[in-house]
Amino acid sequence: MTAGPETLARPSTVLKPAGTATPGLGRTRRLDRWWVAPTVQGLLFTICAAYLFISGILWTPIFGTAYEVDGYLSPLFSPLIAWKDMPTWLSPGLLILWIPIGFRATCYYYRKAYYRFYFADPPGCAVGEPRVHRRFALENALPFILQNLHRYLLYLAFIPLFFLWLDILPAFNIVPSADAADPRFRVGVGGLLLLVNVILLTGYSLSCHSLRHLVGGKIDCFSCTQARRVRYTLWQRLTDLNRNHMWWAWSSLITVTLADVYVRLLDAGVVTDQALRFGQ
Ligand code: FES
Repeated sequence: MTAGPETLARPSTVLKPAGTATPGLGRTRRLDRWWVAPTVQGLLFTICAAYLFISGILWTPIFGTAYEVDGYLSPLFSPLIAWKDMPTWLSPGLLILWIPIGFRATCYYYRKAYYRFYFADPPGCAVGEPRVHRRFALENALPFILQNLHRYLLYLAFIPLFFLWLDILPAFNIVPSADAADPRFRVGVGGLLLLVNVILLTGYSLSCHSLRHLVGGKIDCFSCTQARRVRYTLWQRLTDLNRNHMWWAWSSLITVTLADVYVRLLDAGVVTDQALRFGQ
């Protein structure tokens, strides 16, 4: 059957459902201070994101500052992709940061958070949003349809994560780096910071909603085969992590920022690394 013109015609404006909240920006029957969390989260997110963008992409080309000091590599530059005649205007961070930035930008939790504090879409649960929002295509059109890339960015995110674990070896001098001032095994503030950071980043990646669905989704019967029972057990573990996905998201964002700040401060000579050293 051929579709007639009336079937193909689309309304010029598709309105999304009005929802149950009182229409109008900020209108609500809620009596609690619902605006505190989005405000705090918005400020923290903006500060961290702006700092990480400047430090990872602009700082080194403009000021020539080091991103690796005495075996401590800033997590923004791992894995380090640099070569001898690399243009000075190009930051090695740019070559790898698109993965974690894309992964976080499309994260289900961060989407909820920044839709609230940047777009008031909606500002909070049961809180009214601007009426113009009813005309938004949301994630059905560019640019927000790109949020669907999250699953693929999850796969890619395990690449820098793997290298961040490898960075722990020079950080503790288990495998001393070429510029190690003292090659003995050490437990320093920088190493502990990088270790906590990679643990939190691992928790963040493993608690991802997409990963949980990948492991436990599309199965009708969990107990039918041995392989499915294994998947069920794994899915339960990931579900435990997933319950605190918001916590993993914020804590890992903060430690990534702090780890980079620490390496920059070491390079500037503002702090010296306090470390216990063992061996000959
Ligand atoms: Fe947040 Fe996947 S949902 S990282």
